[in-house]
Amino acid sequence: MKLVAIVGSPRLNGNTNYLVDQALTEARSMGAETEKIILSQYRVNPCLGHDNCASFDSCRQHDDTDWILDSLCEADGVILATPVYYYNVTAQMKAFIDRNYFPYNHNRKSGAKAVGIIVVAASEGIEDALQTLRKYVRESFDVKKDNIFIATGYADKIGDAQNNLSLVEDTRKLGKQIVASLKREN
Ligand SMILES: Cc1cc2nc3c(=O)[nH]c(=O)nc-3n(C[C@H](O)[C@H](O)[C@H](O)COP(=O)(O)O)c2cc1C
Repeated sequence: MKLVAIVGSPRLNGNTNYLVDQALTEARSMGAETEKIILSQYRVNPCLGHDNCASFDSCRQHDDTDWILDSLCEADGVILATPVYYYNVTAQMKAFIDRNYFPYNHNRKSGAKAVGIIVVAASEGIEDALQTLRKYVRESFDVKKDNIFIATGYADKIGDAQNNLSLVEDTRKLGKQIVASLKREN
């Protein structure tokens, strides 16, 4: 059972990464294999909006998005994690979401049967970011509503998430819930 986490924060030692690590540690303790993909470490160029995307055999751009989308399609479970930047997901996460337009146009959905969403903000905008991610999941995944797990909360400076104990607990729980739901599906 493979769980892939897509991380939209560029801060390697930041709050989102810390929380994703909590979720993945729990998932591994329940037997899952895990992979964490921090988008800022790779080339994920923004979509160039070719009108005739649907008629192409492959996306006109070739960068790390190619293998990241393959990982996502092959994963049993996926975690999408982002801090809130200007009341939405980060630019890294949005660029990645937009690059799903090619598979979307070719009816290629992720085979993941469970999805976790983690959103962190200093004070405002969690609902907006959550809405973006929920809509992306609706369009690009074939996952039951009951198998979508959400953990959101507040943290700002590096290290804040560690002190937000309910958020840490919620993200650990999310990791366990994903694996438990995948075990039920199989
Ligand atoms: C460019 C930028 C925009 C931000 N916009 C918001 C915002 O709209 N609402 C909010 O509550 N926090 C905002 N923040 C704060 C981050 O969400 C917060 O610091 C978060 O903990 C960062 O997560 P990270 O440590 O995983 O990178 C913003 C931070 C940056 C750098």
